[in-house]
Amino acid sequence: MTDQTIQNAGRSLTAIVLAAGKGTRMRSDLPKVLHRVAGRTMLGHVLAAAREAGAGRIAVVVEPGQEAVAREIATLAPGASVHPQAERLGTAHAVLAARIVLEEGVLEEGVLEEGASGAVGDDVVIAFGDTPLITAATLARLRAPLAEGAAVAVLAFETGNPTGYGRVLTQGDRVLAIREEKDASADERTVTLCNAGLMALSGAHALSLLTRIGNANAAGEYYLPDAVALAVADGLPVAVVPVAEAEAQGVNDRVQLAVAEAEIQGRLRRAAQVAGTTLIAPETVFFSVDTVLGRDVLVEPHVVFGPGVTVGDGCVVHSFSHLEGATLAPGVQVGPYARLRPGAVLETGARIGNFVEVKNARMGAGAKANHLTYVGDAEVGAGANLGAGTITCNYDGVNKHRTTIGAGAFIGSNTALVAPVQVGAGAIVGAGSVIASDVPDEALAVSRGRQRVVAGWAPGKRAALQAEKAARARKP
Ligand code: UD1
Ligand code: MG
Repeated sequence: MTDQTIQNAGRSLTAIVLAAGKGTRMRSDLPKVLHRVAGRTMLGHVLAAAREAGAGRIAVVVEPGQEAVAREIATLAPGASVHPQAERLGTAHAVLAARIVLEEGVLEEGVLEEGASGAVGDDVVIAFGDTPLITAATLARLRAPLAEGAAVAVLAFETGNPTGYGRVLTQGDRVLAIREEKDASADERTVTLCNAGLMALSGAHALSLLTRIGNANAAGEYYLPDAVALAVADGLPVAVVPVAEAEAQGVNDRVQLAVAEAEIQGRLRRAAQVAGTTLIAPETVFFSVDTVLGRDVLVEPHVVFGPGVTVGDGCVVHSFSHLEGATLAPGVQVGPYARLRPGAVLETGARIGNFVEVKNARMGAGAKANHLTYVGDAEVGAGANLGAGTITCNYDGVNKHRTTIGAGAFIGSNTALVAPVQVGAGAIVGAGSVIASDVPDEALAVSRGRQRVVAGWAPGKRAALQAEKAARARKP
């Protein structure tokens, strides 16, 4: 993080995130901004970018009654203030729902009259809750011109397909206005420089500009981009900050949600590779935004990392594995076809093989479960070996119970461990056992019908069966 992301000529930064609206085109019971990309809600991405860009104060404008959105904000940005926008009357109207924050910004800097011109208020950055690809670095770049005297900075991108976007109208180097598609003339619609929607406003001018924005336009809405024409009319400097079209992408439907997901996955894959992870087929590996990978990790094709996974140095994740909420110490091997669920902790050198599921369980250093096993609510000691088909029966239909297996224990194939139960260190459990009571250290436990061998019994039985069959065939 550069100094600029924290400090801008001594002014602090307020971020206002607009998140009102149901997002009708998502066709969803979930508010749009709570849909996830790379395991994090879109709103979560924007809040993280705002915080990383150095916003000391974050205000989120929400649709009244969307409790789930308020909960997400309380969880991810506990210090943020939440401002309901009673009616959805446009982006400038939405910003003014958080007006109190702008006024406080001015007051705190010692200027008592609201909107007083020349006041040294906070810098203000306005971001959209449905534009999750925006990075902290871009927010910092958007803010930077304010330190050089700009009253307004707009984020803009060049595109071959500008339809639907507000166009940035310029004359030479000067910005004149932003024109929404609905209000644009045929000539203006040919402009390919588009408003990304995000904007930075100097605290000194923010309120005066915002409160003068009217709604005399085709949509009858209060347009935030009209701050540009007002600033120009006041003779205030306006800056245009370029951004790549991919980063400016908004999400209005599930097609765009998938486009955003692809963009973020591309970033996460590159970051993993740059940090020393080999991805044999990167386009088939899916990360969460919080996935942590060590050096010299190898990830084979078709692996999914859900939220909360940490992978230590030198681990190998074989194909078709799904990991979530799992911690892998260095040198662990997982898969192919493994499932690690929340609370899975694999100590150094542990091995989890094909069709093995681990949930809320610790596998000690070098412990192995190589085939067809369920390890749930369990503690497995270092070097223990769980044979194929070992199952911890952790659930009695009402409660979950723990299984504890000591270091160096050997659990024979197809064993059911009925929890709560403990198998001592160095103990051996015979294959096919149902272990419902504790096994002491170094003991043998076998629980299955004793094997009986009757010498020479088979030929007689076979002859009797064949005779019966022949008798049935003779009957009409
Ligand atoms: C907006 C810009 C347009 C730009 C485009 C980029 C305006 C008027 N137009 O258009 O110039 O090219 O983004 O994607 O700003 N919101 C509220 N309350 C409201 C209205 C909107 O909170 O009353 C929020 C929405 O939740 C959304 C954001 O503001 O997060 C943008 O609103 P949206 O309706 O998507 O604006 P666009 O038409 O895309
Ligand atoms: Mg939009």
